[in-house]
Amino acid sequence: MQTQEDQVRVGIIGCGGRAGEHMRALSTNPGARIVGVADVVEAAAQRAGERLGVPWYRDHRLLLERDDVDALWISVPVFAHGGIELDTIARGLPFFVEKPVARELDTAREIARALDRAGLWASVGYQLRYLPWIRGVRDVVASSTLAIAEGHYWCGTGRQDHWVADWERSGGQLVEQATHTIDLLRFFGGDVDEVWAVHAHRVLHNISSPDAHAVAMRLRSGAPATLSASWAHDPGEWKETNVLHLVLDGMLVRVDAAGAAVTPADRAQVPEVHGPDIYDAFLAAVRSKDPAAAGVLSPYRDAAATLAVSLAANTSGETGQPVRVPQI
Ligand SMILES: NC(=O)c1ccc[n+]([C@@H]2O[C@H](COP(=O)([O-])OP(=O)(O)OC[C@H]3O[C@@H](n4cnc5c(N)ncnc54)[C@H](O)[C@@H]3O)[C@@H](O)[C@H]2O)c1
Repeated sequence: MQTQEDQVRVGIIGCGGRAGEHMRALSTNPGARIVGVADVVEAAAQRAGERLGVPWYRDHRLLLERDDVDALWISVPVFAHGGIELDTIARGLPFFVEKPVARELDTAREIARALDRAGLWASVGYQLRYLPWIRGVRDVVASSTLAIAEGHYWCGTGRQDHWVADWERSGGQLVEQATHTIDLLRFFGGDVDEVWAVHAHRVLHNISSPDAHAVAMRLRSGAPATLSASWAHDPGEWKETNVLHLVLDGMLVRVDAAGAAVTPADRAQVPEVHGPDIYDAFLAAVRSKDPAAAGVLSPYRDAAATLAVSLAANTSGETGQPVRVPQI
């Protein structure tokens, strides 16, 4: 049983759609207490602050000035990263930040270096890594040889009039959404060394981002992988997002956000490997100052390596050339 003294006091920066889910989870987690919120849109900050019964601010620096904050929860759009994280690090606080970690790799590198210099850490919102069967698939892959991987992320989100569909602000679907699929591929199969992508505008001509992507990848292990992403498919649900097929030695694993299955079924079982969820791991890490031991599965630098793959694929799609994935 947590006492009020044990509770991690969390400030939330960004009060949009995704933050609403984080606010619900944190306000029902006995290990956390939300102490304030901030959003550049005053009405969004006010709405969230009044709903939670906490002070609200238009400027995240006012939230950071408070002396009763142990950690920050950052849930802002892709283009808004940089200053918020650097201010949080300058204040000496660890943070959770939503994926993808930035729009540009240099921003992510600067934040990663600042974290190292300050002896701080951050946890990134790749929540799929925490699912029991995702951890289990990782064990199955480790016990075999990955021959080839194939993934897809198909949905209709690009149809919205929203920053997500805007190339300059979001980096398009490979940066903003299929980052989850790329991240899972890296979680299972290790680093990606080289990418070659084809982008197309096929259906959604009113948005600045392409609506179809085919990406070929070479993993450091030597295994090839492919990724298909499109906003043209509009089923109103998420069944065809983050689907991965992993061809191993003598078996096929199909995995997505709902479960995993091996074919042939008698070849292996995907174990359910349980551990703390993304919230409990973060809160435990704030208390212990040891994110790895607390069960944080997506540290900042690793998430920046996932961003590097998306951005390399974007460069390849624009230039028509294969691109080596840069180091962080
Ligand atoms: N992990 C997941 O599955 C998942 C799901 C949805 C969204 N996300 C991510 O969460 C992030 C936020 O997405 P969203 O859907 O909530 O977007 P949103 O547009 O609904 O909300 C973003 C909020 O951030 C605010 N904001 C912008 N700049 C800010 C700044 N400098 N300081 C404070 N607030 C600022 C905006 O005013 C807005 O209220 C994105 O990176 C997105 O990719 C992750």
